Amino acid sequence: AAEIQDDLSDILVTEEEIKAKLAELATQVAKDYEGKDLLLVGVLKGAIMVMADFARELPFHAPMDWMAVSSYGSSTKSSGVVQIRKDLDTDLHGKHVLIVEDIIDSGLTLSWLLENFESRGPESIEVLALLRKPDAAKVEIDCKYVGFDIPTEFVVGYGLDFDERYRNLRDVAVLAPHVYS
Ligand code: PRP
Ligand code: MN
Ligand code: MG
Repeated sequence: AAEIQDDLSDILVTEEEIKAKLAELATQVAKDYEGKDLLLVGVLKGAIMVMADFARELPFHAPMDWMAVSSYGSSTKSSGVVQIRKDLDTDLHGKHVLIVEDIIDSGLTLSWLLENFESRGPESIEVLALLRKPDAAKVEIDCKYVGFDIPTEFVVGYGLDFDERYRNLRDVAVLAPHVYS
């Protein structure tokens, strides 16, 4: 099989750095939500790894639900058109919702999602994102828990894909331009 490593130009965040950061964020979240009923909402598919590693750092019950949306398809640019592929199973009314995302790029996915969730009557909504590209923002997202701010480059790994590939890479890496140009 083709080696994933040949398609990468740079490792941006290592598996170890990710694990340490998620543990740190979990300590903060555990403090902020003490005594509250927290619902984690993972955004499929990119957030699967973040959810798995972050949730296991929490010391209390944290039910998970999942929403599947997609705006990128097989392109490296966000279309800005967000499609629901799978809706939540949970009624958000009265819940303390923490959206778990892998990355905030243009911000379009989360801005759409936040507006959609707010109309469902939750008690509170916050966002946790492992990665954020500050220079790529088309809309500002109020994200309480951010792992790493990264440069505006197309990154893959740890859940992030290009055309459904590279999600199973352990680190977050920059995709070599020869792969998509
Ligand atoms: C990616 C990523 C975020 C979103 C961020 O998802 O996982 O959800 O794009 O981009 P934005 O801030 O510009 O909206 P994608 O639509 O590729 O679906 P996926 O999670 O299934 O890969
Ligand atoms: Mn996604
Ligand atoms: Mg994607």
